Amino acid sequence: MRIDVVSIFPDYLAALDLSLVGKARTAGLLDLRVHDLRDWATDRHRTVDDTPFGGGAGMVMRPDVWSRALDDVIEEPGAPGVRLVVPTPSGEVFTQRTAEAWAGERQLVVACGRYEGIDARVVEHYRATGVEVSEVSIGDYVLNGGEVAALVVVEAVGRLLPGVVGNPESLVEESHGAAGLLEYPVYTKPADWDGREVPDVLLSGHHGRIARWRRDQALERTARRRPDLVARLDPATLDRSDRDV
Ligand code: ADE
Repeated sequence: MRIDVVSIFPDYLAALDLSLVGKARTAGLLDLRVHDLRDWATDRHRTVDDTPFGGGAGMVMRPDVWSRALDDVIEEPGAPGVRLVVPTPSGEVFTQRTAEAWAGERQLVVACGRYEGIDARVVEHYRATGVEVSEVSIGDYVLNGGEVAALVVVEAVGRLLPGVVGNPESLVEESHGAAGLLEYPVYTKPADWDGREVPDVLLSGHHGRIARWRRDQALERTARRRPDLVARLDPATLDRSDRDV
């Protein structure tokens, strides 16, 4: 998969050289390219923004600069598997389901806005030319720009690409997996740490009981921390013992 990130702060994306995503790039599993939007500005000051029509505070990013950048970066506009991603606090919420859907794309282009955002005609224009465009929020809070959201999207999608996570089983049980539950608590050695003991069942070697305990923990934790997720659980995924929790 190819992912392009366009930003006025390309250094913000330096963290993508590290860890699993960095390794995926080196191994050729992920073709990640970071671009400086100012490379497509045309004036001496490399201007990318201007004052908002209609008045108001702040600056808006210019559509002409963005379209020059995106025309260069989008490989094949309108082709299947090409998606323009625009992080914005007014977008639809980006979830694990979104990451799963996007992991099958050919190219993601993430356009990081700053200031008051990108001139609305940019999204309109690319939609009209047949490009799939997703305006997404990573949560109900306001950041200074789309760069942190771009990091989130690249990591969440990148780790789902074949070969990126060493043991694919670790993708199976984690929070926000297909079961719709948060992950159960985990423990390692020492079994007694300063008088705090690991739950007995985990030392029992009884796989059935361990699985039941973990599921109960996941259900209780999800009910306590994220009642909204419990409300959305598919009843068909619950078993008889689940209903007792
Ligand atoms: N840009 C600013 N805030 C954001 C958010 N919460 N999600 C995505 N992009 C943003």
